[in-house]
Amino acid sequence: MLHSSYIELSKSALHKNIKFLKKIIGPRILYSSVIKGNAYGHGIKEFVPLAEDCGVRHFSVFSADEALLALTSRQRKSHICIMGSVRDEALDWAIENDISFYVFDNGRLEAAIEASKMVGKKARVHLELETGLNRTGLQSEQFHEAVDIIKHNLDHIQVDGVCTHYAGAESVNNYLRIKNQIQRFNEGCEWLNDQGLDYGMRHTACSAATLTYPESRMDMVRVGIAQYGFWPSRETMMHYVLEHTKNGKKKVHDPLRRVMTWKSRVINVKRVEPGEFIGYGTSYQTTHVQKIASIPIGYHHGFARNLSNLGYVLIKGKRALVVGMVNMHMIMVDVSRIKNVERGEEVVIIGTQKKATITVGSFSDLTRFQNYEVLARLPFNIPRIIVD
Ligand SMILES: Cc1ncc(COP(=O)(O)O)c(C=O)c1O
Repeated sequence: MLHSSYIELSKSALHKNIKFLKKIIGPRILYSSVIKGNAYGHGIKEFVPLAEDCGVRHFSVFSADEALLALTSRQRKSHICIMGSVRDEALDWAIENDISFYVFDNGRLEAAIEASKMVGKKARVHLELETGLNRTGLQSEQFHEAVDIIKHNLDHIQVDGVCTHYAGAESVNNYLRIKNQIQRFNEGCEWLNDQGLDYGMRHTACSAATLTYPESRMDMVRVGIAQYGFWPSRETMMHYVLEHTKNGKKKVHDPLRRVMTWKSRVINVKRVEPGEFIGYGTSYQTTHVQKIASIPIGYHHGFARNLSNLGYVLIKGKRALVVGMVNMHMIMVDVSRIKNVERGEEVVIIGTQKKATITVGSFSDLTRFQNYEVLARLPFNIPRIIVD
């Protein structure tokens, strides 16, 4: 291996997570796997075929470049849907490849009609409704106008779905706002029913909504973070535990398994005398003879600089604290209390080693990043290796 660290993806963990999530939604609701942000750091190229092996046939990406990566990685005829960015010039490519995309302004809808005429095939679109997130989404006048345009261009546009996105379903702070969004969305669908337009699937739910607002599941769910084995928030997990203990059941197991383990190896070990500073500057001074190991990962690899003198990794199933500043490509850790650490020793940065675990959660508590951010920051070029 040429790289200084690598990420293992556990097939059995993903299988369990998807089985759990599919059991929650039941057989009639379609499962769309959200793989934006390089599959939340797991690697689109490796993740797509792995998810297909676990029965997934629908993927949601953010942008056209991610759609291209998914398209070239898929091994089945799985569908790909772009939820965000696709330039007008790329719409003919999307149509040719049967990639559906969200419409949240009518300029894109008009461009899709023109592209469809050029390609000689219908554009598959999802109408994204504004319900309260105030990000993308058709406001009601735009929505009415879109439906009018579509009715006059049924040879060029196929509506695959009508959708929206919630403003933070993982937090109880937003409860009323989410409930209002659901209501507004349902009103939009009722209006659409009156128009007699076939609009395919209704889909609104991310992981947190899927797990905590059953009425949001509708015809398809778009699950990101949970399929990778992370609860969207502690509240979402608590909701699940409360739901499953309310009938007197005493014990609930966490049904989600971490798919990812991020590993590296020790490249150097040395003995440092008392009173010496470790690495750049003077932020860490040894108090006794200490054994210091160097690990070839740094902030370039997503190991945040604010983990300096704070973060830790696992070596031989024990925590080894970062000493000194996190460098661009390296960290130094104190292994004085871990016996027989030598060059080449396995290091776990995120994941489990023997009985110890470093969750992205604890990693993010330390860095003040959310799970999402830590995962999405993992660089593209770290090799992803599939394990059982
Ligand atoms: C439109 C849309 N749908 C679904 C998701 C999936 O969210 P989660 O990872 O919380 O499941 C996202 C991610 O933010 C999103 O932007």
